[in-house]
Amino acid sequence: VYPFYQHLRLNHPVFPMSNEDSNRSWMITKYDHVKELLKSPSFIKDQKKLFSQSSREDMNEDELNIFQNMMLDVDPPDHTRLRKLVQPYFNPKTIKKMEPRIVEIAQDLLTEMKHKKGTIDLIEDYAFPLPIIVISELLGVPVEDRNKFRKWSNTIVAASDNAAVDFQKDVEAFTAYLTRLFERRKKEPEEDLISYLLQTVDEEEQLTTTELYSMVVLLIIAGHETTVNLISNTMFALFEHPDQLSKIQSDQTLIPSAIEEGLRFYSPVDFSTARWAEADIEFHGQRIQHGDLVIASISSANRDEEKFNHADQFDVTRNKNAHVAFGFGIHFCLGAPLARLEGKVAIEELLNAFPNIDLNRTMNRPEWKPVFLLRGLSQLPVALN
Ligand code: HEM
Repeated sequence: VYPFYQHLRLNHPVFPMSNEDSNRSWMITKYDHVKELLKSPSFIKDQKKLFSQSSREDMNEDELNIFQNMMLDVDPPDHTRLRKLVQPYFNPKTIKKMEPRIVEIAQDLLTEMKHKKGTIDLIEDYAFPLPIIVISELLGVPVEDRNKFRKWSNTIVAASDNAAVDFQKDVEAFTAYLTRLFERRKKEPEEDLISYLLQTVDEEEQLTTTELYSMVVLLIIAGHETTVNLISNTMFALFEHPDQLSKIQSDQTLIPSAIEEGLRFYSPVDFSTARWAEADIEFHGQRIQHGDLVIASISSANRDEEKFNHADQFDVTRNKNAHVAFGFGIHFCLGAPLARLEGKVAIEELLNAFPNIDLNRTMNRPEWKPVFLLRGLSQLPVALN
């Protein structure tokens, strides 16, 4: 895929993906263009706004839809209001306080891995459970239920056809689960994000009932698969480049910059950053019309050789690594400080526990999952030694 992106950057930087009148879409691949798109108020998130004034006016509170009015999918002023509610929980200072607990979670998982010996799947045993335990504790979702979330969020993330039977069933199960959880927390509030959000629900001002559901669903999904991929993609890149792995093994202060390089080199989110054109706009030589969809390829932007020297090289000491793996502008990833901290702790603890860890090179090369919205491996078999 990377040579293809390079071809597009050089030859068709604003590429028409579909010319059908009802469904016109573009793909943009250059770093500067991606930032420009994500910053521009002329390109919006909420498709409904193309036809009416406010997404909130269109909300149907009688029918619970857990994807309606997610912060990720709306524009100001709704976006500003929703983001402000949860921002304090995700500030770097607040997140930093979670470090000791994240270390503990990582160490518990590593102790379990030690009992297994031989070859294990680093995703199944480590990269997957770590972020889901962290986000569950932050939200106040019972950690025992994490396998249910995994199934539900996988179906939701993978859904190309919202009408699929599995998708509907999983969404219903997820909704029913949350209803029971909210009832319990209403009766007995705890020191967690769900208890706090429940207090802010008032239909007029802060958060509606539908928004409460979609906020929790968004945080579970956004905080889960992406961070799994951050940990496993970065480890995979390190295994592919043993000289780089040795560098961070001998100098662990390089781990944060290795994480940034992992985010740039194998960006966990790729194609899902899209915007709608709110007006007819000339964009770098192409005429984009009102209602067109413009998709930004983050992976491509992060490999743009006009921005990054030797963009296709994985270099854990890279300086000024201004990648856009967490997006840009007002929708810049809310969970970035958390994801960075989880990534740092995960890799530090892993290398401390297994200094000789390596890819199991007798097996086939790990494969990327076919979902193109996110970039992640299906398995990462490692030899623990
Ligand atoms: C938004 C990437 C982890 C919560 C975004 C966006 C990207 C992104 C690219 C912007 C999407 C757009 O502009 O269309 C990532 C990556 C992660 C990660 C690569 C891990 C490596 C997390 C975590 C959480 C989270 C751990 C929360 C617990 C969110 C939320 C938004 C968001 C709520 C929407 C923000 C808004 O609309 O204002 N993320 N994310 N993410 N992310 Fe993340």
